[in-house]
Amino acid sequence: AININKLRDLTGAITIDPGYKNSGSCTSEITFLDGELGILRYRGYAIEDLADQANFLEVSYLLIFGELPTAAQLEQFEKDIRKHSLVNEEMKGIIDGFPRTAHPMGVLAALTSALTAFNPKSVNVENEKELYQAVCKTMGKFLVIATWTYRKSMGYPLNYYDNTKGYVENFMKLMFELPTEPYKLSPVVTEALDKLFILHADHEQNCSTSTVRMVGSSHAGLFASISAGVSALWGPLHGGANQAVLEMLEEIHQNGGDTEKYLAKAKDKNDPFRLMGFGHRVYKNFDPRAKIIKKAANEVLGTLGVDDPILDIAKRLEAAALEDEYFKARNLYPNVDFYSGIIYRALGIPTDMFTVMFAIGRLPGWIAQWKEMRLNKEPIGRPRQIYTGSPLREFKRPQ
Ligand code: ACO
Repeated sequence: AININKLRDLTGAITIDPGYKNSGSCTSEITFLDGELGILRYRGYAIEDLADQANFLEVSYLLIFGELPTAAQLEQFEKDIRKHSLVNEEMKGIIDGFPRTAHPMGVLAALTSALTAFNPKSVNVENEKELYQAVCKTMGKFLVIATWTYRKSMGYPLNYYDNTKGYVENFMKLMFELPTEPYKLSPVVTEALDKLFILHADHEQNCSTSTVRMVGSSHAGLFASISAGVSALWGPLHGGANQAVLEMLEEIHQNGGDTEKYLAKAKDKNDPFRLMGFGHRVYKNFDPRAKIIKKAANEVLGTLGVDDPILDIAKRLEAAALEDEYFKARNLYPNVDFYSGIIYRALGIPTDMFTVMFAIGRLPGWIAQWKEMRLNKEPIGRPRQIYTGSPLREFKRPQ
């Protein structure tokens, strides 16, 4: 393994690389990605195999601890997450302070940060037991507060983790169960969600993950680092794209379904409009997750008997863009979030919760990357700059 601290000695002149398009920030054993060939692997396992055969908690364990769990390890992991899923009652007072119209991602970032107040002890990452407990706490509590952001927006009473149900089933119950109406779990829905979470679970040094590593590199705690990751994910150029995609598809639908008009807008350099869900910083051929999701969207909508005109618009838009010279020349293909919103919608997830869904899926990746960064003893992240401001000036107040 490369000693990251030794790399420090190689630095000399300052290089400028806006958006870090060609700069690596770390070495990592977690996720392998080849943007040219459209390959994505977690800990060496192909994303296609994991999405097909594993479940989300198994994949979370794999990402965080490096190996697939045995049946006994998985059962214990699930049990420990359950044990730590309880959220302090005083957190409810914090939620009460938000307006119901607040965006769930803003509330989620604040609540994740607030968890530090109730769990103030910093984790000794060298202590395996302590680290494992911190992982289970984060997995359990984050799921619960993520659903509370929705309950708050609806004015519903807050739900608690159900010890008899699995992680993804719990998500649906926490979200939708009402005191007057027990939530009926559907295997189609939980399986589709499980797959979506797996596809989002890690993606090496993307904006939110780099943020988690950067904040954590100052030895800020896990909740504080994850909270920063939530904020980074929120933007429409990153995780917020899934909400933006659906809003765009709805707008096209409401305006008569003219996909060509929107394609032309996306190509017009005087128009700030971009085709949401298209393009990726790293994938320049295709996004392997998008392929899996497109297939899943067809299956889920078919099984649930949902006939959504939005799916048709998405397919037409994709087909037209793939034939278009502008998109071809710039290697712009649908990314993971082009179809995810359509599935979320079919599952009854409200649009402004889409990015929260992404955050729940990405959580094990964030944890794994934070853990790796700390165990590798990476130095504090501190990029340099090239100063382009004024030379020395004499101090004089303007008259
Ligand atoms: N629609 C129209 N044109 C686009 C799009 C798009 N979606 N994406 C990129 N382009 C164009 C740019 O205008 C630029 O054109 P130019 O060379 O003529 O100036 C060229 O393609 C390269 O684009 P950049 O912005 O330089 O590429 P970058 O790697 O910086 O950005 C990004 C990648 C942010 C994903 C971009 O493609 C985008 O904004 N896509 C839409 C938002 C989106 O779907 N984000 C989700 C990303 S995946 C994720 O986070 C899970």
